[in-house]
Amino acid sequence: MGRLDTRVALVTGAKGGIGLATACRFLREGAGVCLADIDGNGAATAAEELRRESRNVLAVRLDVTDGAEVEARVSEAVERFGRLDILVNNAGITRDALFFEMTDEDWRRVLDVHLTGAFLCSRVAQKHMVDSRYGRIVNIASVAANGNRGQANYSAAKAGMLGFTRTLALELGRYGITVNAVAPGFIETHMTRTMAAELGVKFETFVAEAAENIPVGRAGTPEDVAAAVSFLASEEASFINGQVIYATGGPTA
Ligand SMILES: NC(=O)c1ccc[n+]([C@@H]2O[C@H](COP(=O)([O-])OP(=O)(O)OC[C@H]3O[C@@H](n4cnc5c(N)ncnc54)[C@H](O)[C@@H]3O)[C@@H](O)[C@H]2O)c1
Repeated sequence: MGRLDTRVALVTGAKGGIGLATACRFLREGAGVCLADIDGNGAATAAEELRRESRNVLAVRLDVTDGAEVEARVSEAVERFGRLDILVNNAGITRDALFFEMTDEDWRRVLDVHLTGAFLCSRVAQKHMVDSRYGRIVNIASVAANGNRGQANYSAAKAGMLGFTRTLALELGRYGITVNAVAPGFIETHMTRTMAAELGVKFETFVAEAAENIPVGRAGTPEDVAAAVSFLASEEASFINGQVIYATGGPTA
C-alpha cells in the first residue's frame, strides 16, 4: 500500500526539477499524477519516462497565468482520473536584476507566474476539493521570501505565497483541505543552473560555494524538496495547516 494510493495530484511546472521529482515521488507512493507545464513537449517527454513506472500519468501544456487554460486543464485531469486531491503550485521563473535596473516586465512576469498562477490554480482546484471534503494544496515558496539581493520581484512573490498559504489555510480548513508551503533553499535544478550561467560562474563552483554556507554541507536536491511536499500532501499531515517547512539544510534567518 502506498501512502497516496487512490489520490490524484496535479503538479505545475512539472517537466523537470522540483516539480518532476515531486511527481515521481507521488507516483511511487501510489497517486495518479497530472504533470502540467508551460513547456507541453517537455511535460510529455517527462511523462513518457514516468510511464515505465506507472500508467497513472497525464501530461498537459498549461500556462498557470491563463485562467481559461487553468480551468480547461484541471477539468481534463479530473475527467481522466475522476477526482483531484492534491495541488502543488510549483511553476516558477526568475528575472533577477538589481532593484534600480528591474523593468516593469521583470516585476510583473515574476509576480504573475508565482502568485497569480498559484491563485488561479488553487481557486479551480478547491472547487473539486470542497465537493469531496478533502484536499491538500502545497505551495512552493522559497527562503528568498526573507529577502535576497537582486530578487526584489521573486522575494516579493515568494513572501506573498506565504500570506496566501496562511489565508487559504484559514478559509479552507473546515472543508478538510490543508494548505501549506515548502520553502527550499539552494537546490540543484535548471533554475540555479541558469543563475550560474547568468553570473558567468561554472555550475559546479556555484554549487560548491552555496554548500559552504549550508549547515549540512551540501546543496539540496529536488528529491529533498519532494520528500517534504509528499509528507504535507499525505493524509497523515491532516493537522498541519498554514505552515511552512524550510527545506534549506539548516535554520534560516
Ligand atoms: N532551485 C532552487 O534553488 C529553488 C529554491 C527555492 C524555490 N524554488 C522554487 O521551486 C519551484 C521549481 O523550480 P525549479 O528549481 O525546479 O526550477 P525549474 O526551472 O526546473 O522549474 C520551473 C518550472 O516551471 C515551469 N514554468 C515556468 N513558467 C510557467 C508557467 N507560466 N506555467 C506553467 N509552468 C511554468 C518551467 O517550464 C519549469 O519546468 C519554483 O517555484 C522555484 O521558484 C527553487
